[in-house]
Amino acid sequence: MKIREELIPERRSYALDTPESGSGLLDCSMGENPYGFPDCVREAWRSFDLERMCRYPHSRAIHDEVVRYWADYAFIEPENVVPTDGSISALCLLCNILAKPGAEVVGFAPAFTDMVEYTRMMGMRYTGVPSASSDPRGDVDAMLDAITRDTSLVYIDNPNNPTGRYLPQAEIDRVLAKCEALGVYALIDEAYADFLPCGESSVLLGPKYKNIVIVRTFSKGFGLAGLRAGYIITAKELIRYIDKVSNPYMVSEPARCSPLRRYRTGAFRPRTLLSSPRQSVRSGPPWARDSACAARTTACPSVP
Ligand SMILES: Cc1ncc(COP(=O)(O)O)c(C=O)c1O
Repeated sequence: MKIREELIPERRSYALDTPESGSGLLDCSMGENPYGFPDCVREAWRSFDLERMCRYPHSRAIHDEVVRYWADYAFIEPENVVPTDGSISALCLLCNILAKPGAEVVGFAPAFTDMVEYTRMMGMRYTGVPSASSDPRGDVDAMLDAITRDTSLVYIDNPNNPTGRYLPQAEIDRVLAKCEALGVYALIDEAYADFLPCGESSVLLGPKYKNIVIVRTFSKGFGLAGLRAGYIITAKELIRYIDKVSNPYMVSEPARCSPLRRYRTGAFRPRTLLSSPRQSVRSGPPWARDSACAARTTACPSVP
């Protein structure tokens, strides 16, 4: 058998066996934003020159957009940014860099299934620290105990998938301080952080720590899951290695030209059914406001 043993067991993923959520179908397990994307995206794509599609993607607009997006909060240079095909590609790249046989990843349990699966499939060991307590400080204490000099990576999805729990900056800061002291990388997956103010992002902690890696996506708050665009913010030293393992043409040209910066300057506020359930259900996502559409809405059996 030439295939790596870790690839023999079935893979678990949120993206497998899920029905296409077309009109009238909202699959909450996908974390898609039923409110869709902001109008500035439509405007930007109307002016996109389609002729550019016949060449390999080269635009660095997304690097500059990310820098400007965070300008009021943190000093980032375009060289600190790596655009990726959604945040899931970012997670895969980072595992690829750190996957020495038996390397240890410390994270919470539960955590984003696909990340846990990537670590396993790449021959790493995932140590899951239970996050059952109502006091996040206690769970962070347990995580700090689990992190040792032998740990390669700490993974925190913040907010967490599936619990939705958000760890305040002060708690993330405690984890980062220990990681920095021991030379461990800390990956903060902020897939759902666009539902929180920018000022609460771990991006603000970046200048303080050189081992921090932040992953963001356009899929959730900005309603662009189909675009497949996300990005990594980290130190330039690590980016040298990310570039080595990455597909050289990661992220399509139209996705590189998305107007991220205008999301903040415009009136757009990421919304989700979960952010304010009562209000959301009353006003409803665009498709549910149409009663004919609502009548066609189907309930699917939930997937364990
Ligand atoms: C915590 C977390 N990280 C990353 C992803 C991947 O999202 P995408 O690849 O669309 O950016 C998801 C998707 O549900 C997620 O829940």
